[in-house]
Amino acid sequence: MPPGLPSYPDLKGRVAVVTGGSRGIGAATCRLLAANGATVVVNGRDGGTIRAVVEAIRSGRGRAIGIAADCTNVTAIERMRDQVRRELGPVDLLVLCVGGHGEYTPTAQITEDQWHLVVDANLTATFLAVKSFLPGMLERRTGSIVTVASSAGRYLVGVSASSAAYAAAKAGVVMFSRRIAAEVAEYGIRVNCVAPGAVLTERVERQLSDAQQNDIAASVPLGRMGTPEDVAQAVLFLASESSSWLTGVTLDVAGGRIML
Ligand SMILES: NC(=O)c1ccc[n+]([C@@H]2O[C@H](COP(=O)([O-])OP(=O)(O)OC[C@H]3O[C@@H](n4cnc5c(N)ncnc54)[C@H](OP(=O)(O)O)[C@@H]3O)[C@@H](O)[C@H]2O)c1
Repeated sequence: MPPGLPSYPDLKGRVAVVTGGSRGIGAATCRLLAANGATVVVNGRDGGTIRAVVEAIRSGRGRAIGIAADCTNVTAIERMRDQVRRELGPVDLLVLCVGGHGEYTPTAQITEDQWHLVVDANLTATFLAVKSFLPGMLERRTGSIVTVASSAGRYLVGVSASSAAYAAAKAGVVMFSRRIAAEVAEYGIRVNCVAPGAVLTERVERQLSDAQQNDIAASVPLGRMGTPEDVAQAVLFLASESSSWLTGVTLDVAGGRIML
């Protein structure tokens, strides 16, 4: 483990699937899981980006494979699940980072297509991955699932910087996670959620000017935007046995901006 990073010895040897693991928060999660000895499945849609994350992990002596699959498509996810089973065996940890399209659009201007795009990318993709990987966990009576919501789905003061479609989809992820947590607890499977605030991923860095980044940082009690690693560390805690008595929890990783 690189010095200064928390270590979770129980993750060693675990098989972890990270949807949306090829960029941003998902990629940081893949790197941290691999540094803790997990074998990581890096998912995304773009093969080149996936390969770069896999190669970086392998060059640090970590274990990873990459699988390109559109997580809004059940056939593609099931193909990924079958490939994971063939190449790595049963899945212990599932981290569901696919999501996005949160940019503000006035609700009257959201087209039906945009609505479906946002709900599919955030809520339906989460459901489809759970639907595909949960049966294996139920059979083995073990597993840990971490979903990714957003501050946008948690709380609102005044006008939000995100769209109502995104807020609704992410609030849906929170409630969906609780419902499955209650449903599968008796099988020894835990389901928890992280709800990040504004995180400076490469995508967000491209979208926001320096002035906008400074304004957001000033609105965060802890005085800065988050890093992908801030969120990844919360994900690892929830995925690992260090949180063995936590399920159905939503952890706001938001620099103090969300206190519920
Ligand atoms: N960054 C933030 O400030 C922030 C704040 C709150 C919540 N979140 C949430 O955190 C999660 C990660 O956000 P991020 O900012 O790290 O995102 P990002 O940098 O845009 O990365 C998104 C990842 O998801 C993959 N992806 C997107 N759609 C996919 C699909 N249909 N099937 C498979 N893979 C797909 C992308 O790969 P390809 O490009 O190859 O498809 C990429 O690996 C999202 O759920 C987002 O809503 C982010």
